[in-house]
This record gives sequence, C-alpha cells and structure tokens, in this order.
Amino acid sequence: NIELEKTKNRLYEINREAAIYFYKNLFNNGNAFKYLLNRGINEETIKKFGIGYSPDSWNGLLYYLKGKNYSEDELEKAGLIIKHRDGTRYYDRFRNRIMFPIMSTNKKVIGFGGRTIDINSQPKYLNSPETLVFSKGINLYGLNIAKEYIRGQKIILVEGYMDVISLYRNGINYCVASLGTALTTNQVKLLKRYNAQVYTCYDCDEAGMKATDKALDILKEEGINPKVIMLGEGMDPDEYIKIYGSNEFKKRIDNALSYMDFKIQRIKLKYNISTTEGKIDFTKNIAKLLKQFKSPIELDAYIKKVSEDTNISIEAIKKEVFNKEDNST
Ligand code: UTP
Ligand code: MN
Ligand code: MN
Ligand code: MN
Ligand code: MN
Repeated sequence: NIELEKTKNRLYEINREAAIYFYKNLFNNGNAFKYLLNRGINEETIKKFGIGYSPDSWNGLLYYLKGKNYSEDELEKAGLIIKHRDGTRYYDRFRNRIMFPIMSTNKKVIGFGGRTIDINSQPKYLNSPETLVFSKGINLYGLNIAKEYIRGQKIILVEGYMDVISLYRNGINYCVASLGTALTTNQVKLLKRYNAQVYTCYDCDEAGMKATDKALDILKEEGINPKVIMLGEGMDPDEYIKIYGSNEFKKRIDNALSYMDFKIQRIKLKYNISTTEGKIDFTKNIAKLLKQFKSPIELDAYIKKVSEDTNISIEAIKKEVFNKEDNST
C-alpha cells in the first residue's frame, strides 16, 4: 500500500525533526543538561543516544514543526501533539521532560520516552502512544546501538531507558530495555536474531522479580536459555553500576543464575523450609518443575541441590519427579 508507506515515511521524518528539536533544546536549558550530568551521563553518551529535552511550553514543538510544513493532523498521528478538549487547538504531549528517542534497528526514530525532571509531575515516564510507526511490544529500546556490540556474545535485558544508557556509559554496551511493558514474544523474536546469551537484569524489587519470572517463561517458550543477573537489595542496574562500578557489575554477569536456580529461589520464598511441612511442599513444587529437564546430568545436579536444602533424600526426590502423574504442562 503506497499511501500507507508515504504516511509512515512522513511520520519518521517528523519524529526525526522532533528529536533534533529536543536535542537542540537540551543545550539551551541548564536544568535539563545538569540533570543528566548529575545522573552521570556525559556529552558523548547524550549524542550517542540522541537524548534531548522538551521545553516547558504548551506549543513549542507544535509551532516549530508547523513552521517546517507539517500539518497538525500529521503531528497528531505521530503522537507528538494532543487535541485540546474544546476541539479548537492542539498542545504538545511532551513538556519539561528529558526525551529519549526510540529507534528501530534501521535507525529510524519511531517514538519517544520522556522523563519528568520536576518531582511533582506524573507520570515519571511518558511514552509515545501507539502510532503507525510505533508499537511498544515489537521494539526494544537501545537495540539500534547494542546490535553493534553484541557480536554473538551477550545481550542484557533491563527495565528502563536510564538503565541502558547508564550501563552504556560505564562500558556495558550490549543492553536493551523492553519499554515499560512486560516482555513480549515479538521482542524475544527480535532478540533471537543476534544469537547471543540472553541475560535479564531487572530491578531487584518485587515488581522486577515478578517481571523476571514472566520474562523467563517467555524466553523459554521461544527456545532461549536465559540467565538472570541479580543485583543487591532494591537496586536497578543504573543505581548498582554507579555505586559499585563496571567490574563488580561484570562479576554479577559471571555469577548470573540459571533459569532453574532462579525459579528454585523464587519458590523457596513461598515456603518456610525450616519446618517439615514447608520442606515437603517446597520439594513437591520443585519436583513439578524438574520434570521439564531433558538432561539427566542437569536433573541430577538440581536434585542434589534440593536434597541439600531440605535434607530429603535424593532417592525420594527422584521418585517424586519420575513417578507422579503429570497434570501440569
Ligand atoms: P522504573 O520505575 O524502574 O524507573 O521504570 P526508575 O528506575 O525509577 O527511573 P529513574 O531511574 O528514576 O529515571 C523502568 C521503566 O519503566 C517504564 C519506563 O520505560 C522506565 O524506564 N515506565 C516507568 C513507564 O513507562 N512509565 C512510568 O511511569 C514508569
Ligand atoms: Mn522507580
Ligand atoms: Mn522499578
Ligand atoms: Mn532507575
Ligand atoms: Mn528502575
């Protein structure tokens, strides 16, 4: 469809112009620039990611782009302006925010994430809406940059824009973020092209651990054998690397948990294994998971581990794994 392609190309153009506008504005606004410096981001990284700033104005971008002969209708389609409730005028979607352009792997600007620099305004992060050229579930933030550095080795999945950028700034340049949504099958398919060991490194809080649990299942379903990087209490990758540095972060990569180790750790939280009942329930639950194993060596290693944790004999756990009727999937 030629008409559709034409419209899409206009939206890519508009987004690129907007990114340039935000970028220029960053250097005109001392507070925004300082905000980034305070977060440890330098000029080289700002350039690399094309980070910008949307001024504290209701129509700065609107007038700028109208001046470049884009119509209000097109700007609305790009998700950059919003129609006022009274229907007579439009206003800028992004105001007084640090702007992160989201790019496709072929370096087109498809949307934006904007972080408030004013502690009182909500939400903290505002993203472009779904448009003809932007769909959250099929893109990964930072992949346009990370792809140059992955080289069949490692790729790290994180939660946020600042995690990707801060890790990059500290020399860990093979990270991508799933754009504030739960990881999707389409995103995993995108990852698979790079033939690398996939790691997750979500925020070390309950929300992050739950998201990890889900992400692992989706990765598994797509035939990926993921590992889980665990950070200290409550920290996200950006906070961690700022406190401990990249060498410590690399050690965390080397000590990443296997899928099963992570699952066992999560399940353990649900039971009090200092009681007999807790031990029994925990072991029964793990036995269900262990059924998935095709490799007898792996199975053996995990059975030993569970046996050590619970003092239940290896023999009994094995029987539980093999004999129980399988009602699970
Ligand atoms: P977090 O809530 O972990 O961000 O969201 P953060 O680490 O506190 O943010 P900073 O470090 O203070 O800047 C992680 C990601 O989730 C999405 C964004 O993509 C964000 O980068 N998110 C978060 C949203 O889309 N909207 C929100 O309101 C919050
Ligand atoms: Mn937070
Ligand atoms: Mn968080
Ligand atoms: Mn953070
Ligand atoms: Mn975070």
